[in-house]
Amino acid sequence: MRTIFGGPARSFPKAVPSLEFSVLSLETGNVQLSIRAATSTDLPAMMALEKHAATAAHWSVEQYQALFNPSSAGRVALIIQEERGVQGFVIARAVGVEWEIENIAIAGPARRRGLGTRLLGELLDLARSRGAESVFLEVRESNLAARGLYEKWSFTESGRRRKYYKDPEEDAIQYRLGFA
Ligand SMILES: CC(C)(COP(=O)(O)OP(=O)(O)OC[C@H]1O[C@@H](n2cnc3c(N)ncnc32)[C@H](O)[C@@H]1OP(=O)(O)O)[C@@H](O)C(=O)NCCC(=O)NCCS
Repeated sequence: MRTIFGGPARSFPKAVPSLEFSVLSLETGNVQLSIRAATSTDLPAMMALEKHAATAAHWSVEQYQALFNPSSAGRVALIIQEERGVQGFVIARAVGVEWEIENIAIAGPARRRGLGTRLLGELLDLARSRGAESVFLEVRESNLAARGLYEKWSFTESGRRRKYYKDPEEDAIQYRLGFA
């Protein structure tokens, strides 16, 4: 267990403590929060949460189950949890020294309380501690909440994929954060 560092900065803090991910527990006010690696028992909660997050990436049951296959060693899924249960998750995969954030979602009633910021911060911390040199992702252009979250962690726009998303059709904005 360790203490979480302060929060996002415009330039990524260099002295991020290394993290062998087990469980991070912290208390904010009277709320007990923990961030931990997801297990297969979290799948129902993760899928229910994603179902109610229209702008999250939508995966099949098989894709979620595959997260816990031994062949998915390059993938990481973290859960943020309060006493009342799972409040969000983030999924990423390592592609060599580059990590890709594939999905992140916080339960509707728990949004705008800083949980996404903390969860993404832990993921970045973990990526860095495992040797990542950069982290990248794609997001719908209109998803201002997610873009605000990424920019809060100093991600910068690195490109655009025209009409990348369907239903509705929309450009993807690519973001990247380098740890150099
Ligand atoms: C994106 C998401 C994960 C953010 O989680 P969250 O816990 O609400 O985020 P935080 O409270 O930590 O907010 C972090 C920053 O994001 C931005 N943000 C979050 N919600 C926002 C909103 N509704 N409108 C505008 N900006 C918003 C702000 O910049 C905020 O920083 P601030 O509080 O200092 O202003 C959440 O909105 C969500 O689950 N959305 C649906 C799923 C999704 O779109 N995932 C991204 C797929 S690429």
